Amino acid sequence: MPSEKSVYLPDKALSKNAYVSSFAEYKEMHNKSIDNPEEFWGDIASQFYWETPFKYDKFFRYNFDVRKGPIYTKWFDGATTNICYNVLDRNIRNGHGDKIAFYWEGNHPDDYSRLTYKNLLVEVCKFANVLKSKGVKKGDRVAVYMPMILEAVITLLACARIGAVHSIVFAGFSADSFSERISDCEAKVLVTADGVWRGEKFLGLKTICDQAMDKCARNGHNVECCIVVSHLCRVTTPNRIPNQNKKINMKEGRDIWWQDIVPNASSSCYPEWVQAEDPLFMLYTSGSTGKPKGVLHTTGGYMVYAATTFKYVFDYKPNDVYWCTADIGWITGHTYVVYGPLANAATSILYEGTPFYPDNDRFWVIVEKYKVNQFYTAPTAIRALMKFDSDLVKRHNLSSLKVLGSVGEPINPEAWMWYYKLVGSEKCSIVDTFWQTETGGHVLTPLPGAIPMKPGAASTPFFGVQPVLLDESGKEIEGEGEGYLVFPRPWPGIMRTLFNNHERYETTYFSKFPGYYCTGDGARRDSDGYLWVTGRVDDMLNVSGHLMSTSEVESVLTEHYGIAEAAVVAKPHPIKGECLYCFVTTTEAVVFDGKLLAELKQHVRERIGPFAQPDVIHNAPALPKTRSGKIMRRILRKVAINDRDVGDISTLAETNVVEQLFANRPATA
Ligand code: PRX
Repeated sequence: MPSEKSVYLPDKALSKNAYVSSFAEYKEMHNKSIDNPEEFWGDIASQFYWETPFKYDKFFRYNFDVRKGPIYTKWFDGATTNICYNVLDRNIRNGHGDKIAFYWEGNHPDDYSRLTYKNLLVEVCKFANVLKSKGVKKGDRVAVYMPMILEAVITLLACARIGAVHSIVFAGFSADSFSERISDCEAKVLVTADGVWRGEKFLGLKTICDQAMDKCARNGHNVECCIVVSHLCRVTTPNRIPNQNKKINMKEGRDIWWQDIVPNASSSCYPEWVQAEDPLFMLYTSGSTGKPKGVLHTTGGYMVYAATTFKYVFDYKPNDVYWCTADIGWITGHTYVVYGPLANAATSILYEGTPFYPDNDRFWVIVEKYKVNQFYTAPTAIRALMKFDSDLVKRHNLSSLKVLGSVGEPINPEAWMWYYKLVGSEKCSIVDTFWQTETGGHVLTPLPGAIPMKPGAASTPFFGVQPVLLDESGKEIEGEGEGYLVFPRPWPGIMRTLFNNHERYETTYFSKFPGYYCTGDGARRDSDGYLWVTGRVDDMLNVSGHLMSTSEVESVLTEHYGIAEAAVVAKPHPIKGECLYCFVTTTEAVVFDGKLLAELKQHVRERIGPFAQPDVIHNAPALPKTRSGKIMRRILRKVAINDRDVGDISTLAETNVVEQLFANRPATA
């Protein structure tokens, strides 16, 4: 049992009914998952439908050591299945056909609907037939740029049903970012909606898609067909302003309205049986250098892992109502809005809007309305909601809640306590889930009812996961200590490669420490063996849970004619977790003024997306560089937080640069 003072024991009633009721039981299961993966995962996998059953001699193979040959991971190799069949048809056969799969809650509280498992299957089959009629075949990529509407789920499952690979891009990325991703994955078809309201903000999705497709065409890639959900006509707008001004351009021969083609399609579609190791989807994530990485997940292992983590981490019981607020455009949306819940025949909420519309208590209104049992959100949302009067939470009946989840970045103990006390009334288990786009599902997390909680600790590995901490020389740190968080072996849901770039996969994740998958995060192990993720150890930033690389933003800033050089660092931010602090050196002919500042911010918004807009742009006539010309980011991070304790600067080519930077700090910084 943990010895630290700030330990919160799971609620007794929750423990009693939980799938895993004690630390000892967790330990026993975890040991089995590591010592005997065939038996552990085989028992779970046999609850799914396999057209060709898996065989134990080819159950699990891998190589994580570049010195021994190419890196690979294979689970259930040789078996065939279909994840759409497993999450829909199988559940319907098991008697869940009339169960609600999703309650859809619109941006405006007057808009809501629901879909049962049976109806979801009908819609998925119809759309799968439409995709087939547009020439989409097994292995083809389908790009998706959609709001949080039921058609987004239908699109993903329709792709999975016919063996096509979905590639969703978060509908907050700019046209430039989106076009780069469409071209990279060579998408044949694009699925989108005309537009969406988020709070009082309108997003013209089809217009952004038009710009992205034009850009793709200029670069030689033509999207053959764009299917557009007519969404605006069916929603209530803020202040009920009619949507009529939102003119949508439809290009003859390429663009079709969903509503013109889907209703008439056949509602039966035989699933395509795919290999367990055939791709299911790809999802781009920022790389610390160069282009975004197309993380590729396959079918069998991902299905089993998404289902298992969902069941145990949220302790989901039949008839519970579960809600994950993540957007479908991120990995959390893939695994814990779509595949994990559906694989467990769960009832979920799909919410289109923001936490702040029409009022700052919308999350709690929804929890009360649907009697939500498991609620899963990000620390940045919690910190934003903490600012408001606690009465906004207290005036709602949140007694249905049992498990509260956190994901995307470390949760600070203050936010944890607020979540635990105010939202969970000190009876809910908090699951601080650490994972990545690459890991497919949770890898470190407490289990509700079983693991005593420490505010801010991702705590313990999930089944099949064996965390290791390494020092700089690659030596394993036993017991207490801090180091690089790595994994010496795969679990079923880990990524298999980067799309079209296995070499980059090997160098990014497996070359620093041969024999290990390297997360890029640091972690600390305390005296109780609990793990605390300390954040990225590379040049990545996490802004409101959105991962991006400093070099990506730097190269966009230097595209501007007025900028000679740029260096970007992360600065702590009370709500976003981190924000972008950008140092720029202007070209000689250009004056650093408000106009330039506005242009730079706008340029980053256009090239990457609004979420990447810099918080601070600092005029730096010179940057602190070593004699060999390397920028010393350590010093820039100190300037960003106005900490003059910069340490040894004797290796700098010009030491007076540091003083100049402190003197030049913008008033807004
Ligand atoms: O730095 C870690 C942080 O988010 C990164 C992964 O980001 P992404 O691939 O976008 O996936 C986010 C959703 C799974 C990690 O490398 N991170 C995520 N969850 C946590 C976290 N850091 C600390 N604690 C967490 N619970």
